[in-house]
Amino acid sequence: MTSPTAAPLCTGRVVAVTGAGRGLGRAHALAFAAEGAKVVVNDLGVGLDGSGPAAGPAQEVVEEIRAAGGEAVAHQGDIATTDGAASLVATALDVFGRLDTLVNNAGFLRDRMLVNLDEDDWDAVMRVHLKGHFLPLKHAAAHWRAEAKAGRTPEARVVNTSSGAGLLGSVGQGNYAAAKAGIVGMTLVAAAEMGRYGVQVNAIAPAARTRMTEEAFAATMAAPGEGAFDAMAPENVSPLVVWLGSAASAGVTGRVFEAEAGRITVMEGWRPGPTADKGARWSPAEAGAAATRLLAAAEPPQPVYGAR
Ligand SMILES: NC(=O)c1ccc[n+]([C@@H]2O[C@H](COP(=O)([O-])OP(=O)(O)OC[C@H]3O[C@@H](n4cnc5c(N)ncnc54)[C@H](O)[C@@H]3O)[C@@H](O)[C@H]2O)c1
Repeated sequence: MTSPTAAPLCTGRVVAVTGAGRGLGRAHALAFAAEGAKVVVNDLGVGLDGSGPAAGPAQEVVEEIRAAGGEAVAHQGDIATTDGAASLVATALDVFGRLDTLVNNAGFLRDRMLVNLDEDDWDAVMRVHLKGHFLPLKHAAAHWRAEAKAGRTPEARVVNTSSGAGLLGSVGQGNYAAAKAGIVGMTLVAAAEMGRYGVQVNAIAPAARTRMTEEAFAATMAAPGEGAFDAMAPENVSPLVVWLGSAASAGVTGRVFEAEAGRITVMEGWRPGPTADKGARWSPAEAGAAATRLLAAAEPPQPVYGAR
């Protein structure tokens, strides 16, 4: 099961994709398999709000990959638990003998305005996204560090999934935006800490038509007519993820990309803007005057999604 036009990018690699039973994760799993990777397809099979779990979307994607001549195995654990994350890595090692790439993608939404957001909805979304990225990353990194210490430094790759909501904010998604911003912070730290073990860590902020977005953005996400470019298909996000997850992306780490339709954008993060230094403590009134002058010279922020 290899791409007919170019040499496969991922021959011999083993890739674990979380939340790969549906939507973007499914597209990533199929795209990695098409480039020659063996894939661990994780999915807990939960509902749009994390309820459930229900039976087997992970196994269905495994069957699709196998039907196309590829190799895959299902893992149905909860990646936001130590058992689920550890057994995800163990499944790759037990079944395929190695792990080269981890794609953290699983998640769900509990959207509310902050004033109406229940503590449970805050906790559930922080847990699945932020802890659900941390735990698989930690367990994969422990394996890769052991490999590096044994003299087998890997060409390991992690692709994390943030969101425009995490980069710019999104009205009605305070829990989700905080979790997705946290994923960017963790990505930067992981890239800095793990480079010495041969591990590169990057993040994407995707946009695509999945069950997560089709209700909210029905008009803009609609499938086009026959033969036209289906801009919002999740499959359009996966090529960048496959490249970031391959050995071909050597040297790229600690970066964030937006990926949507036919467009790839490098997102440039926080950096110092206009600055002033008194060389001593400001009074509050002086600090206010200085901040006002600096703001007048600064770039205005990008609008928050959904803000009026
Ligand atoms: N679709 C978009 O436009 C968009 C935009 C920005 C970010 N994202 C992010 O992309 C990722 C994929 O989203 P999607 O749109 O494909 O959604 P989706 O609902 O189609 O797929 C998410 C999958 O994750 C699984 N999952 C949820 N909790 C899990 C857990 N604890 N363990 C294992 N699996 C679990 C679900 O069962 C589901 O199959 C998410 O992190 C989402 O926040 C999506």
